[in-house]
Amino acid sequence: MTAVSDFRKVLEDCQQSHLLKYWDELKDEEKTQFLKQLSTIRFDEVNRLFKEAQSSLTEEVTKLDSKMKPLPSDKFESEEGINAKLLDEYRTAGLREIANGHVAVLLMAGGQGTRLGVSYPKGMYSVGLPSGKTLFQIQAERIRRVVSLAKQQTGLAGKICWYIMTSGPTNKTTEKFLRENDHFGLKKEDVVLFQQGLLPCFDFNGKIFLEEKHSVSLAPDGNGGIYRALRDNGILKDMEHRGIKYVHVHSVDNILVKVADPVFIGYCVKKGADCGAKVVKKSGPSEAVGVVCQVDGSFQVVEYSEITEQTANLRDEEGNLVFRAGNICNHFFSTKFLNEIANNYESKLKLHVAKKKIPYVDADGTKVKPTTSNGIKIEKFVFDVFQFTDNFVTWEVPRNSEFSALKNADTADVDCPRTSRRDLLNLHKSYIENAGGKVSCDGVEISPLLSYAGEDIEDRVKGKVFDNKTVILSNEEELLMNNNDYSKESINNLNGIRH
Ligand code: UTP
Repeated sequence: MTAVSDFRKVLEDCQQSHLLKYWDELKDEEKTQFLKQLSTIRFDEVNRLFKEAQSSLTEEVTKLDSKMKPLPSDKFESEEGINAKLLDEYRTAGLREIANGHVAVLLMAGGQGTRLGVSYPKGMYSVGLPSGKTLFQIQAERIRRVVSLAKQQTGLAGKICWYIMTSGPTNKTTEKFLRENDHFGLKKEDVVLFQQGLLPCFDFNGKIFLEEKHSVSLAPDGNGGIYRALRDNGILKDMEHRGIKYVHVHSVDNILVKVADPVFIGYCVKKGADCGAKVVKKSGPSEAVGVVCQVDGSFQVVEYSEITEQTANLRDEEGNLVFRAGNICNHFFSTKFLNEIANNYESKLKLHVAKKKIPYVDADGTKVKPTTSNGIKIEKFVFDVFQFTDNFVTWEVPRNSEFSALKNADTADVDCPRTSRRDLLNLHKSYIENAGGKVSCDGVEISPLLSYAGEDIEDRVKGKVFDNKTVILSNEEELLMNNNDYSKESINNLNGIRH
């Protein structure tokens, strides 16, 4: 391990010597811990990062209107706008790739979920569905189901490796939760956790905060940290060994996410894309969501703050918003492209800066919990790589079947547990009604192990009226229930509500 004397020199060179102010007071184990932490920080980059970040803080937000163009028609397709035959071709192509073991899922679960305000990783959150399932469980079960659909279609027992990007704050708890739940039926060796990087938090003058006398204040480097993390943790190599060619990357907090969506994957593969974005129509000109478009000829997500109201309101002849492709943190990447980014472009990713209230140890050694913003956190965003390819496509999907984000606590009444629960139950109600059943109450849920997107439920729902809270289970779950083998928590949730 590097000695403290070596760090003194490094810290002096980048004007961060204050970090060792309390060194002489530290106990031996604190010293060891601190040195270990310091050795993980890329101090050679620190000043550059802060300078870049600082200039973006002082700059006025540039409006990009004059440079923006909507997506060209050959780079955009809408699920609602295409015929059933083509949709089926995409689905078939996607399922074939899954059956051949070419597809992986990369779940981004390194965020701290500060707006939701729970003390554990967001994936462990249960929005209060009749089954009590958490976001992690729902997503794992969708993976299992889509693999079995691929098998049904091709006869091949393919598999999907579930890569989960965690961070310092979420890693241990996520790992323990998945282990204790037997990875929700996925094979242990096909669930791979890796940690994204952390970056120091700075005050407005570029000094790094001490969180404790023996530790620097660090925060995850944003979901754009995936590229570096994929490389530095050997995940790109792991993908190569497993023969993975395509990766579906998505956020943890969309309860409707179609994990490893065969239609999206099939569409991107058929178009020969390196990189794809799933989008939904902006709900209106003022929805504060980034839009996917072209800026100076390159593909980019333009934030709501970067467009004037006038441009946000532009409509085409059919009355649709011209810039309507709302970005939902749901992407397709070829592994070839991920390698290119990780090896050649990662350091060119834009830095996004947010002013935050950052707790710190002050110059007198007192711990301070600020009530107003006192510094900055720097993040990279996953979508900032679109500009590095021309082989980019966009796939528009209906919001009600694909997107409902969990960002806030129920007090916000938007993007919260209540809306997540409502949107999933409404979707399942529509699946049941399309298959000939009737739902006359709130709260009929379909297990992801039974149906991925409303398929294969006719024999369970046709002609039936559901007037009580119910979970329609897969045969496998029914069997486990009957053998009393189901997890205790799920039994508690399911008891008395089965039809
Ligand atoms: P958000 O930007 O919404 O952040 O993340 P968050 O952590 O969920 O919530 P707040 O802002 O603290 O309230 C969008 C997706 O990106 C992941 C999140 O886990 C989520 O899936 N993410 C975010 C990371 O994986 N790493 C990060 O550093 C930040």
